[in-house]
Amino acid sequence: MFKILESSELTANIFRMVVEAPRVAKNCLPGQFVIVRTDDESERIPLTICDYDRAKGTITIVFQIVGAGTKIMSGMKAGDSFADFVGPLGRPSEFCEEDIEELKKKKIVFIAGGVGTAPVYPQVKWLREQGVPSDVIVGAKTKDILILEEEMKAVAENLYITTDDGSYGRSGMVTKCITDLVKEEGKQYDVCVAIGPMIMMKFCCLTTKELGIPTIVSMNPIMVDGTGMCGACRLTVGDEVKFACVDGPEFDGHKVNFDEAMRRQQLYKTAEGRAMLALEEGDTHHGGCGHCE
Ligand code: NAD
Ligand code: FES
Repeated sequence: MFKILESSELTANIFRMVVEAPRVAKNCLPGQFVIVRTDDESERIPLTICDYDRAKGTITIVFQIVGAGTKIMSGMKAGDSFADFVGPLGRPSEFCEEDIEELKKKKIVFIAGGVGTAPVYPQVKWLREQGVPSDVIVGAKTKDILILEEEMKAVAENLYITTDDGSYGRSGMVTKCITDLVKEEGKQYDVCVAIGPMIMMKFCCLTTKELGIPTIVSMNPIMVDGTGMCGACRLTVGDEVKFACVDGPEFDGHKVNFDEAMRRQQLYKTAEGRAMLALEEGDTHHGGCGHCE
């Protein structure tokens, strides 16, 4: 069992938990995820790690209520325990394997959208710990649903907050912010990491392609079981078929076929949709997720 040490609601429907998981905390790196189950019968929920403390043996997760599993999770309090807390899973962010001196020469910008701010945080923090500064853009629809502002301020070189309705920080979506920074404020970036809703990552990639900035995205949103068995996270990257949970979750965003990934994500939600995928793709769409016949 994995004990919850802290539990709080950051904003409406978005929760933060600190969980006792020493082995995960000892081995994880930014970009990796865990799979949690509230009890032996419940669904597996893949969640990107938001923070870790190796000395205390804890992992911080941030999640939004999107279905029954996360709704049940939101009712858990400090002192309760998860039946499973498996990880670290997936591949760490690419820069974790890069030469630090080479990384220091690069100008890095992160674009975090909504709940996607949580997986961006450990990446920015890790880079800061290695002496690599990075700029961060955080976008939220409105001021009241902005999360982790203070945490991000502590690790980012420059933090740009933007709200869709202009209620706080800059006005407009994250794509406007990166365009303004580059075209009007003279910023230059060698690499961008964009993490958030699929539609945001798609439009970020269209924007950064135009701006000539190589971009990495996290395809965590299309994962279901997170174990390589269900096939839900199948996507096309360039001319290759990949699975987000085993080959990713991070990929070259300029090569990801977002329209296909978003269509599959929608289809996968219903039995009829999964039957359509089975018809179109054969066996590759299922085989152990518990959602299929
Ligand atoms: P949201 O819809 O509130 O969007 C957050 C920000 O993204 C907006 O403020 C805007 O700046 C930007 N954005 C949204 N649509 C855009 C568009 N069409 N063009 C340009 N920018 C756009 O975000 P939310 O409700 O917090 O997001 C929830 C989603 O985030 C869930 O679907 C979840 O799957 C996803 N998520 C993704 C990851 C990941 O690893 N990629 C991690 C956690 C959550
Ligand atoms: Fe990757 Fe199921 S989530 S195969």
